[in-house]
Formats: sequence, C-alpha cells, structure tokens
Amino acid sequence: MIEFKKDKVLIRGLSSGIKSEIEVPGDKSISHRAIMLGSLAAGKSTVSNLSLSRDNLATVAAFRKLGVNIKKHNLNDSGRNFIINGVGLNGLKEPETIINTANSGTLTRLLAGILAGNDFFSVLSGDKYLNSRPMKRIIEPLSLMGAKITGRKGSGYPPLAVTGGGLKSIFYEVPVPSAQVKSCVMLAALFAEGDTVIYEKKKTRDHTENLLKLQGYPLNVDTSVNGGSLISVKGRGNGELKPFNIDIPGDFSSAAFFIALGILNKNSEITLNNILLNDKRTGFIKALEMMGADVSLTVKGEIPEKTGDIKAKYSALRGITVPHELVPDMIDEFPIFSVIASFAEGKTIVTGAKELRVKESDRIKTIVFNLNRLGVDITELEDGFEINGRPDLINYKPPAKSKIDNLTELNSFGDHRIAMSMIIAGFILKNRKIEIRDIRCINTSFPEFFDTVSRLINQ
Ligand code: S3P
Repeated sequence: MIEFKKDKVLIRGLSSGIKSEIEVPGDKSISHRAIMLGSLAAGKSTVSNLSLSRDNLATVAAFRKLGVNIKKHNLNDSGRNFIINGVGLNGLKEPETIINTANSGTLTRLLAGILAGNDFFSVLSGDKYLNSRPMKRIIEPLSLMGAKITGRKGSGYPPLAVTGGGLKSIFYEVPVPSAQVKSCVMLAALFAEGDTVIYEKKKTRDHTENLLKLQGYPLNVDTSVNGGSLISVKGRGNGELKPFNIDIPGDFSSAAFFIALGILNKNSEITLNNILLNDKRTGFIKALEMMGADVSLTVKGEIPEKTGDIKAKYSALRGITVPHELVPDMIDEFPIFSVIASFAEGKTIVTGAKELRVKESDRIKTIVFNLNRLGVDITELEDGFEINGRPDLINYKPPAKSKIDNLTELNSFGDHRIAMSMIIAGFILKNRKIEIRDIRCINTSFPEFFDTVSRLINQ
C-alpha cells in the first residue's frame, strides 16, 4: 500500500506475491552520452527511448543553451524519441547564462570535459547536493591538458568556471575507479592536439567508448593491460563524429529495484524486458547469484550495448562478502543491495567502496541511518558496511506502545536511490508502517517509478 502526503510517502507491506512483466525507461548514463555525442556529431542523429529524468532533461537543456537544436521526434509517440541536429566538433556556442547541471555528476563532469575543449567561457552549477560533490578529480586532468577551471572552496566544488580551448594531449592514469572521470578526459581529448592515452586500473562502465565506436571515431581500447583498460583517443582534426541512430535499452539501475522486489517478496516472479546488460553495470546480478538468488538473464542483443531480459524470482538468500572487483560494477546498486542483505541469512560485508561517500549523498551514512531505523543490525565502516541479515525481520512487529502507531520515519536525504530503496524495504516489511521523507528526488533518475510500482502492486 502507498499513500502520498506532500513530499512524503507512507508504505505498508505487500500482502501477496507479484507475477508480472515490465519495462523501465531508457538508461540514464547512455541517455546523457547520446545527447552529448549527438550534439557534437556532424549531422542529424535520432535517439529513441531517451530517459526523461530530471538529470537527462538538464543535459538536453544544456546542449540547447550551447546552440544545438534538439527536438522531440513526434508529438504522438512516447515522448522519448528525439532528433539531435549535431553541430560538429567546432559548432558549440558560448552560453549566455549559467548552465544548470541539476543533481547530475555525470552531466557536470562530462560536460566540463567538452567545455574545456571549446574556446569560450562557461559556468556550471547544480543543486545543493551536486555543488557539494568533489570536482578536483576532473579539474586535475583538464588543467594538465591546459584548460582553466576554477570553482568553490579552492576549486574543489561547483559552481565551476571554465575557460576552454588550446588543449594538448596527455597520458592519464585515472586515480579513482570512475567512468565519469575517464569519460571527461576522453571527451576533452576530442578537442586536444595529439593523441590522449588514458589508463584505468579498475575497469568502469564503457558507454562512452561504445558510442564513440558507433560514431566511427578513431579510438583504440585495449581491455587487457594489467587487468585494466588502456584507451587511446585521436585528437583534433583526426576524426569526425558520425551521426547515429540509437534505441536506448532500459536502465539497469532502475530495474534493480524491481529485481529486489521479485527476490524478496514471497511468491513473486518479476520479468524486466529490454534492459541494458553491459557487464560493467551488472555486478549486482553476480552478487545476488552468490547469495543464492534465482535471477536469470536472456541476452537479446550486443551492439552497441548488451541488452536483454531479466527474470527475478522469490529466493532464500545468504549473506556474502562482496568481492572488491565487483564494487565498480554495482556502484549505483549498493542502496538496494543493502536492503536485500538485511533480509538474507547471515553476514554481508561490503568494503573497498569508499566512492559511496561522494555520490548523490554519503551513501554509507544514509544507508546506515535508514536501515538502523528499520531495526537492521548494520555497522558503518570507513569504506563500506557490515550487515547481520535476518530473514525473520520481515515479520517483525514493533512493541505496541512504540511511537505514533508504530510508524518508522526514514529520510532520503535528497538521494533518489536511497528513496526508492527504502520504499522497496517498506513493501517487504509485513507489519510495519514506513514513512519516507523527501521523495521528490526520485525524479532525478526515474520519474515513472510510482507508476511502475502501482502497475505491479494493483495488478
Ligand atoms: C556514471 C558513473 C558512475 C555512477 C553514476 C553514473 C556515468 O559514477 O555512479 O551514477 O554515467 O558515467 P563514477 O564514474 O563517478 O563512479
């Protein structure tokens, strides 16, 4: 059961199983890149099933501000199909006002790479959460390439002021496992003099590489260099970005909430069709398999991205130690993974995940805060958390005299993935009433979340 109260939602446990097939909107990471690289292409690209999340709409608005004509394809269709009239690598215009990057680290960091390559002045600023996220990680390589970027707190945080142009190529080893940093340097490299070479010790999502390949850009990716990837990108004047047509597969990170629901809710079987299955995004599935979950994938396409269907069935789960090599491949799924681990038998340990502290919230803190309130035995670690899971927590009934009719209040702290994860937890806890504050942030990635939930639980 769901009840909305202004910016809060009240959730009660589900009383029956769910058997359903659904789709989720297009992947957020690919949507950002499709708009950016379509804008820089020489000619007209078409993008179907674009995510209409707040973050992605901010990317559309940013490129319109930079002089790119981006139109909805046909007003009678789903509203997710766009035509981008690309202006080519030299066609962006100096923006007259500040570019709003909303809640989006991907938009801020990737766009900074593009702007660094353009001979004009621009300013990037997002919401209060985005403006508290570290930017040194991109300012450092972009400065080495010759861009001038300043920001708040000694140039560590947005707003960022970028004076671009005149970039030279570099060799750069990405110091943290981050697809955003890697992609930022790759995009700046398109405008630099000479070939830029990037090494990532821990491989991260490769959507930028895949889209550049689709556009026929001269790029070399060697994925077998000491366990990492060596990426070499040709510089200015050595290549062109061809227009493309792409149908964006469903967002795996949005699908993850319903995979969790299928696994945790008794007598359930949820199938998610046409979902992105890129190996660097699906570490969550590998972790669930280790826990004994009944999840199966059917691959239906490989190019430009691996795509297919996911079936998740109710399963008995056991706790695991998450292998370090899986961490970057499930980095956005730790909030919902922590909910799953709470209901598994035994201990789950997550370490080597310090990056969680600099996401849309400090996710180690916000996970621990909320699960503690639900009665989960969870310990905060510097670079992760430890959970002593208990399947019987599902039926726990708080003592009758406890606060306001046994209501447990949770807080998203403005983080979309924390909000959606706690809503799923609320559906699983049979005898509780869970209220989650600050749910508007869900629009950041998944404005259709509640519609999808209603379709599932009111079938
Ligand atoms: C993203 C990369 C990840 C991820 C984010 C989207 C991307 O961030 O957490 O939600 O689209 O490149 P990092 O690359 O900073 O880990």
